Amino acid sequence: MNSERILILIKPDGVRRNLTGEVLRRIEAKGYTLENIRMAEATPQILAEHYSELVDKSFYPSIVDYMTSGPLVAAIFTGQRVIEGVRSLAGATDPTTAAPGTIRGDLARDWGSDSVENIIHASDCPENAEKEIALWFAKVQAQR
Ligand code: TYD
Repeated sequence: MNSERILILIKPDGVRRNLTGEVLRRIEAKGYTLENIRMAEATPQILAEHYSELVDKSFYPSIVDYMTSGPLVAAIFTGQRVIEGVRSLAGATDPTTAAPGTIRGDLARDWGSDSVENIIHASDCPENAEKEIALWFAKVQAQR
């Protein structure tokens, strides 16, 4: 049986706060396999594809500001039920109420900014994972 894949992003707050290694460590320690990793810069065009389901939301402009505020890390992990497993490790969207023990619950908080700063993006289904892998590993220019 083919192994499932997930695309994760360590968002600019995670990179800025030197949490890249900690986030990767938790996913690796759970037992998932790192298949590929790179640094990248988000652009409004890439984000419109990545967050195509959110572009009409009132908070979308603040997401663009946040996600373009610095470099991020994109990584692909593989394993049986990796999407379910990594999303469980990530925790709830709102870092204030995300459960202790999760990446967002342990490492993120509300800083009073317009956007929810929650350290990690994790694909929510196999179709979106493959779409996001193509986006971040083929379309985005390599960080120089
Ligand atoms: P979503 O896909 O709903 O959450 P998740 O990342 O947990 O799968 O939303 C994508 C991102 O959009 C989320 O990580 C943070 C941001 N966001 C806001 O800034 N404000 C909001 O009200 C929501 C719902 C999301």
